[in-house]
Amino acid sequence: MEAEVDTHPQEEVGDRRLEDRDQLARSMRITHDDDSARRRATLEGVTLALTKPLVLGGHDVWPPVVLAPMAGITNVAFRRLCREQGGGVYVCEMITTRALVERIPRTLKMIRFAPDEEFRSLQLYGVDPEVTAAAVRMIAEENLADHVDLNFGCPVPKVTRRGGGAALPWRHRLFGRIVRGAVEAARPAGLPVTVKMRMGIDHDHLTYVEAGLIAQEAGVAAVALHARTAEQRYSGSADWDAIAALKQALDVPVLGNGDIWEASDALRMVEYTGADGVVVGRGCLGRPWLFADLSAAFAGRPAPALPALGEVAAVMSRHAHLLVAALADERHGCADFRKHVAWYLKGFPVGGDLRRDLAMVSSLGELDDLLGTLDAAEPFPVEALGRPRGRVNAPGRVSLPYGWLDSRDDDSVPAGAETEDSGG
Ligand SMILES: Cc1cc2nc3c(=O)[nH]c(=O)nc-3n(C[C@H](O)[C@H](O)[C@H](O)COP(=O)(O)O)c2cc1C
Repeated sequence: MEAEVDTHPQEEVGDRRLEDRDQLARSMRITHDDDSARRRATLEGVTLALTKPLVLGGHDVWPPVVLAPMAGITNVAFRRLCREQGGGVYVCEMITTRALVERIPRTLKMIRFAPDEEFRSLQLYGVDPEVTAAAVRMIAEENLADHVDLNFGCPVPKVTRRGGGAALPWRHRLFGRIVRGAVEAARPAGLPVTVKMRMGIDHDHLTYVEAGLIAQEAGVAAVALHARTAEQRYSGSADWDAIAALKQALDVPVLGNGDIWEASDALRMVEYTGADGVVVGRGCLGRPWLFADLSAAFAGRPAPALPALGEVAAVMSRHAHLLVAALADERHGCADFRKHVAWYLKGFPVGGDLRRDLAMVSSLGELDDLLGTLDAAEPFPVEALGRPRGRVNAPGRVSLPYGWLDSRDDDSVPAGAETEDSGG
């Protein structure tokens, strides 16, 4: 494992960073009153059903909140921004099992945790029981992480077409072999293993309750459900009734996932489904402070202040600086940051030219200069609250290998299903 990149280079690249960070930290603690009326109203009427932490192996998680693994997003830099806001589990970007056991340098670089990440959470994607077990063994023996999550939720055609991702639980025996192999490989080191999945291929081919029971039998610490089918991709609404049904069916903790845009949604989900915790993905894109809101909500505290544009700009700058430090390359770090610009600025009255320039930055100096032209006093656009962000693509027929639906009991390993492009 590579050591976390020293943060000092950031101080060299921009001395605004520390000032901005302090300013941001102060602003986050201010209790909101006037312009947060809408948020308070949404939180009102939601009673806190959860009083106990989520237990993953020997680790108590409070609040019971998980940053969803998101390929290309939840790297060490973004996790740090989120972790600073509140408690929970912060899952790293997905790692493919074969690339890990083959020690592909690019993959090894992705397994990077900060020294203060106490519960290092790593997501694996694999389709082969032997390779997955070998990957978990490697993680355990080389102390690469404290928790392994297995990804069975990817709806990308390139992956399902070969029987991987969200298509795989349909082959229940193969699914069981993968999960059992991972749990057994993790046991000597006491690593908790969890499974993250979708409801099934489509509504005629639902797998989540069966897969949840298989995973429970295999000894997983928890099961997370993104309550959509692969066919739905990111369209429509997550079906929280499915989360409730899974909770009814399982004894191990169930984590609900799908459409948590605000902290109040997390409380509503827990109350509605009985879930033991929540997994939050797109809601925190451009809004790492959502984890402060979640911590406050689960503690029954008022929501922290919504950041004005100046505070958002400070977070943007810090995010870019952290990325540059993590990648040890200013150009590369700035290029990686570009995708976050629109999420941070969503709803703010910022002109098209400036947005475009920000989304094309190639140096930290350029970024900070552009951010400096924003109107720092501009209040947070409350109309952007509770609205979807990130992927919202249309449903699409699920590509599957020939004869896949007729081969439920086949537990042979699908060929070529392990690709680098295997997000959820
Ligand atoms: C950009 C992006 C990348 C994702 N990558 C992964 C991934 O690598 N592994 C995974 O299990 N899910 C992945 N997901 C799915 C999320 O973890 C989550 O299940 C999904 O976004 C639904 O939760 P949400 O409604 O809170 O966003 C990804 C989602 C997005 C938007």
